[in-house]
Amino acid sequence: MMDSLPQVFTQDNLPTQVRVYEVSARDGLQAESITLPAKVRAQLISRLASTGLTSIEAGSFVSPKAVPQMADTRSVLDELDLGTGISYPVLTPNRRGLEDAMAAGAQDIAVFVSVTESFSRANLGDSLEVTTARNLDVAAAAAEAGMRVRGYLSMVFGDPWEGPVDPQRVVTASARLLDAGCSSISLGDTIGTATPGHVSAVLTALIAAGIPVETIALHTHNTYGQALANVFAALQLGVNEFDAAAGGVGGCPFAGSATGNLATEDLLWMLDGLGISTGVDIRAVAETSQWLGQQLGKPLASATSAAIVNQ
Ligand code: HMG
Ligand code: MG
Repeated sequence: MMDSLPQVFTQDNLPTQVRVYEVSARDGLQAESITLPAKVRAQLISRLASTGLTSIEAGSFVSPKAVPQMADTRSVLDELDLGTGISYPVLTPNRRGLEDAMAAGAQDIAVFVSVTESFSRANLGDSLEVTTARNLDVAAAAAEAGMRVRGYLSMVFGDPWEGPVDPQRVVTASARLLDAGCSSISLGDTIGTATPGHVSAVLTALIAAGIPVETIALHTHNTYGQALANVFAALQLGVNEFDAAAGGVGGCPFAGSATGNLATEDLLWMLDGLGISTGVDIRAVAETSQWLGQQLGKPLASATSAAIVNQ
């Protein structure tokens, strides 16, 4: 019987340490047909916190009509032990979201903009320019208040309505987010169409334009099964933060072709095998995913989780 850890074979020129940014409680649950109560979402986050994860997205302060699954994120934060060194970022699309997040004690927020016109309208209800300006304003206000701000970019590797996306759009948007006070940029492959060469090309354009690689994270959806290969391409260019969701839950309610995020356990199996340190216990994550699957009443997408649990 195989152990639940892979054999380690290191490779030169890869980061030795990587941050896994856990999004199951936000990106994962926002796309599930079942809405889990705030208490259960808080339980999920607490379980994830005990696996060694240190960045765990806790929810969104968005319209509950638009995303009912994230309603009552304030109650989720109320249940958590804030200020313990683990960050629990929340999404804030506008000033109201930021004020509510601050009132709930959030210390980390994420703004989110699209690099395409169509998804700006589908996801945020207005034009690219208006929604970008709104999010830059929120980012600046939060940074001014001493909060840590992440900037998400959606549709970085293609858009279901508009098709290919010019990497220069990603460069421009990244620079604007960093200028506004974001400390990191998460490149969203919202519909999961990216392939490793595409990831390398976009990262190369960003790095050539002077965007520091240590500010870049990769946010993958595994729609076409490319997420892990894309992570490997990004590792080779020095990216050291990757978004993932326990069990591979998730998607995006405003982009029907998006499926779940890369599963955290699948990411960890590869990183552990490469000898890249994350501080996260893969078995504990797999157990949490099984628990989450029970809450959602369905088997989850993660291949690694199924393999570990069936051992
Ligand atoms: P809008 O309709 O343009 O704005 O929405 P509005 O100001 O007219 O507000 C509409 C309603 O929302 C009003 O309520 C507001 O009070 C309420 P009503 O009068 O109809 O009862 N509202 C709010 N309620 C609570 N908190 C708020 C808030 N703001 C307004 N902060 C808005 C614009 C962006 C607010 C809305 O469309 C919305 O909340 N959309 C949800 C967006 C979202 O959460 N998308 C999913 C996350 S992004 C994602 O998944 C991509 C990512 O994973 C990366 C990737 O994969 O690419 C990050
Ligand atoms: Mg996403």
